[in-house]
Amino acid sequence: MVNKIRIGVLASGRGSNFQALIDGAENGEVACNIAVLITDNPNAQAIERAKKAGIPVEIVNFKSFQKREDADKRIAEILEQYSAELVVLAGYMRILRGARIFERFKNKIINIHPSLLPQFKGSTNSQKDAFEAGLKESGLTIHFVTEDLDGGAIIYQEKVDISECKSAEEVSAKILVREHAAMKKVVDNFAKGKID
Ligand code: GAR
Repeated sequence: MVNKIRIGVLASGRGSNFQALIDGAENGEVACNIAVLITDNPNAQAIERAKKAGIPVEIVNFKSFQKREDADKRIAEILEQYSAELVVLAGYMRILRGARIFERFKNKIINIHPSLLPQFKGSTNSQKDAFEAGLKESGLTIHFVTEDLDGGAIIYQEKVDISECKSAEEVSAKILVREHAAMKKVVDNFAKGKID
């Protein structure tokens, strides 16, 4: 029997990386059970994707917390409540903060970033940055999340040729296809104990 890892996914918007995990879990490509989707955005398209797949959704509305760290504490509580073993940031556009989450999920939080980190570290539009810099090559990185924004140890990195791209949108689309494949592979590798 394949050991399935229980994952909690954090996403803020479209959720196509989240969808890749849903599909991968359903077709057996990724040995995971998606325990919960947590979002900071009540309008995130990711919510619809979760509902369609029967995945519980928890919305953490940052505006309703007086102190910023209480929102992050709530996220940690939800992840504990759903017994998440791995936390996947899939287009989560906030910075995770607070001792609790980093102590409880030490080396168990990963993020996907659409650049070859440390290039465009901390950017929320790395694909546009790459296009505007006239780069011929960019890519994606999956890394451990630490208190240093986009600075945790790199788990996986892949180069993408963007030399023929005519717009930032084309760059995004070209990298995104690779993101989906990489996301599935890395989570599956966690489940199989190839990463710890
Ligand atoms: C993805 O390209 C992801 O790498 C990026 O946001 C997009 C989310 O798309 N994340 C960051 O830039 C984090 N700094 P998705 O919602 O369709 O998965």
